[in-house]
Amino acid sequence: MERSVRIIIYLYSCFVVVFAGRDSQYVQTKVYKEFESQSIFSEKTDSLLRCSVWCSSTVDCRRILYDKETKLCSLYDQGEHCLTDEAVIGKVCFRVLSICDEAHCERCPIGFYGDRCQHVIEDCADGTRKNVVPLTITTSFIRLSSSSHAIEVLCDFGHGGWTFILTRDGSRPEINFNRTWSEYVRGFGYRGGNHWLGLENVHKIIENHPRFKLQLFIRYGSPARMAFSHYSGFYICNVTDNYKIFFASFDENPNLPTGNSFTNGSYSINGRPFSTYDRDYSNYDCPGRFGGGWWFLDDPVCSRANVNGRRSGDNFESTWHWLDNLGNRTDLLGLFMKIFRETDNY
Ligand SMILES: *[C@@H]1O[C@H](CO)[C@@H](O)[C@H](O)[C@H]1NC(C)=O
Ligand SMILES: *[C@@H]1O[C@H](CO)[C@@H](O)[C@H](O)[C@H]1NC(C)=O
Ligand SMILES: *[C@@H]1O[C@H](CO)[C@@H](O)[C@H](O)[C@H]1NC(C)=O
Ligand SMILES: *[C@@H]1O[C@H](CO)[C@@H](O)[C@H](O)[C@H]1NC(C)=O
Repeated sequence: MERSVRIIIYLYSCFVVVFAGRDSQYVQTKVYKEFESQSIFSEKTDSLLRCSVWCSSTVDCRRILYDKETKLCSLYDQGEHCLTDEAVIGKVCFRVLSICDEAHCERCPIGFYGDRCQHVIEDCADGTRKNVVPLTITTSFIRLSSSSHAIEVLCDFGHGGWTFILTRDGSRPEINFNRTWSEYVRGFGYRGGNHWLGLENVHKIIENHPRFKLQLFIRYGSPARMAFSHYSGFYICNVTDNYKIFFASFDENPNLPTGNSFTNGSYSINGRPFSTYDRDYSNYDCPGRFGGGWWFLDDPVCSRANVNGRRSGDNFESTWHWLDNLGNRTDLLGLFMKIFRETDNY
């Protein structure tokens, strides 16, 4: 079966495997210690090359985690970097750049499409509309307007294509949200776990399209319940305007209401600049008190919600909370914010 397996190393971190008439290109990425996601295949082999050949011949394989010590080869269907529950040392991660035969590429990273994987979707809605993505919740590459490189985002492709901008999942390891201005601008965390996509990335996603809608989704209580609501006309200005936030309207979901902790009356954050502890526009040390960045008010109240606070603690202000309609809730289990192009029909 294996007529010829040859390996060409070019650059340090990119390699090509030619296998059964197929040309598979891989690029080395990073391994982080975090909650590991489910692999689609896992088996021991002495050679990394064999592991990559298994990936090439496994439908949907787009990433490899290889442990040089235990010789375990694990294959995954998406993602740029590898996450592991164990020590990072001795493990290497590669992701598929493309798997092509003479005629076309049969497998591109999710978000890339075209005969030679030459195109990239602009946001998650673009992927669903063009029908070039799997209709599930998964990480994907998108290419931001005015940018030449693709970034990885978490997408919900199933409901028209929503792009996650914040995920706080109580069942995944907590990460620190009390971070600097530049970290909030660039983004931080792991796409499949807890993350903040980054103000500059969000600004660039919405820049080229007339209107976006924000969905706020909350899981809370015991037994667990959920609630969600929509903010239409969501916009974030650029860095010159300190990423000021705007919403045109609030649409309550009558069956699973969250209430409105963002734009209710005098506590509306509409038009507020973003603040972090090292660049604070609140005048009341709100980022320091709440323990995270946000579009805080210039008011001692700071905000009716703390979505970027820590998950537990005995100080009310700095623990994540939500005040309106759901009551004074500190028993949040998860909190997610995702955006959608409003002008598209779905
Ligand atoms: C931000 O937008 C304003 C106009 O809305 C523009 O004048 C300014 O040059 C922009 N800044 C950057 C860094 O793109
Ligand atoms: C807005 O705030 C008022 C006063 O705090 C509250 O009674 C009302 O329920 C809030 N509305 C929503 C939609 O959350
Ligand atoms: C957040 O970090 C800043 C800077 O280190 C610190 O002053 C502040 O107390 C922290 N806030 C919380 C709630 O931990
Ligand atoms: C919400 O509840 C906490 C803890 O019971 C309390 O410390 C806090 O003051 C309450 N906040 C409001 C605005 O009611």
